[in-house]
Amino acid sequence: MSKEFDVVVIGAGPGGYIAAIRAAQLGKTVACIEKWKNPAGALKLGGTCLNMGCIPSKALLASSEEFENAAKHLGDHGISVSDVKLDVSKMLARKDGIVEKMTKGIEFLFRKNKITWLKGHGKFTGRNDAGVQIEVSGEGETEVVTAKNVIIATGSKARHLPNIPVDNKLIADNEGALSFDSVPKKLAVIGAGVIGLELGSVWRRLGADVTVLEALPQFLGAADEALAKEAAKQFKKQGLDIHLGVRIGEVKTTDNGVSIAYTDNAGNAQTLDADRLIVSIGRVPNTDNLGLDAIGLAADERGFIPVDDHCATKVPNVYAIGDVVRGPMLAHKAEDEGVAVAEIIDGQKPHIDYNCIPWVIYTEPEIAWVGKTEQQLKAEGREYKTGQFPMMANGRALGIGKAEGFVKMIADAKTDEILGVHVISADASDLIAEAVVAMEFKAASEDIGRICHPHPSLSEVMREAALAVDKRALNM
Ligand code: NAI
Repeated sequence: MSKEFDVVVIGAGPGGYIAAIRAAQLGKTVACIEKWKNPAGALKLGGTCLNMGCIPSKALLASSEEFENAAKHLGDHGISVSDVKLDVSKMLARKDGIVEKMTKGIEFLFRKNKITWLKGHGKFTGRNDAGVQIEVSGEGETEVVTAKNVIIATGSKARHLPNIPVDNKLIADNEGALSFDSVPKKLAVIGAGVIGLELGSVWRRLGADVTVLEALPQFLGAADEALAKEAAKQFKKQGLDIHLGVRIGEVKTTDNGVSIAYTDNAGNAQTLDADRLIVSIGRVPNTDNLGLDAIGLAADERGFIPVDDHCATKVPNVYAIGDVVRGPMLAHKAEDEGVAVAEIIDGQKPHIDYNCIPWVIYTEPEIAWVGKTEQQLKAEGREYKTGQFPMMANGRALGIGKAEGFVKMIADAKTDEILGVHVISADASDLIAEAVVAMEFKAASEDIGRICHPHPSLSEVMREAALAVDKRALNM
């Protein structure tokens, strides 16, 4: 007889493992199917986020920031260091150690919550009165389990350009770009999105000469224009060479590296020679070999699994969350959907306000926003007012030597409800959390303006931006 579970989750990334934990907390019997192997061949939980995404990239961002600080900025504090050297293998080992700790942590959480880890590839084989049948194969004996409820959380993989094979050495996606064994002298990046900017920044700080080629004519099109403009200015100052509106032609690997032919925004043919190339042009959902048709499901033309506002597919008791469904490909969005679906299975009525999901780009300065951009509100014809306050006028920002950027708040012209908050500054990823809370509670800009903020702290800039909405910032 096949094993039966109340809930089977396919995929143990941040969407899947959180869904499994929440379902177990609610008293369900839970299994989670995961097949990810690390480069040493060991099976690991955590998916892309922990193994090849958020966590390792933030480790390298921190290492490269320390290196750049030591090499360039400590002098401002009157501290002189000489002969700053980088040991790339040690830096990578530190990153791998953090990943190992985090993935082991999820194994612990699975044991603690009595979640069964089914090791291997999950594939639907059918559906009957008992539930949905899923075959788990690839590691040891193939087995079939029955699930009363299924949560598909299979995530996404890097999109590659046609005819440009990624070997993760010379030409890398996010995976290879997290493990270059030396600092390339010249690094080319195709795609000025989140991964291109974050990993481009890592290798630039470590000494690479980085050129980014972006197809769209506009930089960071999804961000508020003021933020995108400031980011472009800061990145240029740092030496990131970003070319917009390009069309990529032939990419050849040579004895010395990679040669990228492209047409620039004026229509001129150009060639970029580099030691290495990162291809970061978006991601595609993982729906290969899932056996969706065996239960009457199909991915749409872009590979996403169609779901309603509550992550339910058209098949009863089968849900899908995270990168494999509509919406931003963000770990925290997947987590929230995982919790919500586990609670729906439990008979609860949770709700996710997708307008309150924050975006973060971990560059220096960091970029973060929540809610609507000014251009979106303009297009909607909504009347709004804005307040902006520079980090430069904040004592703490000056003290830590990170006075670039600003906070911009947008509020409804009549009701003063906060409609969007846009931050470019040090620690923007943490500062934005206050704005998320405010928007979830439908706060007015006046509310933030009246709340006591610790002094001296970067968070005071949030308050000043709120006061600036009413043209009464105090320190400007
Ligand atoms: P992205 O969607 O952020 O950016 C891809 C960029 O490549 C776009 O600007 C696009 O216009 C450009 N592009 C597409 N085709 C191109 C071509 N043929 N030639 C030149 N440029 C081209 O995708 P990215 O950076 O690969 O990241 C993938 C996903 O991972 C994103 O959805 C992102 O949200 C997520 N992610 C989130 C992070 C975070 O929250 N901090 C960190 C890293 C990834």
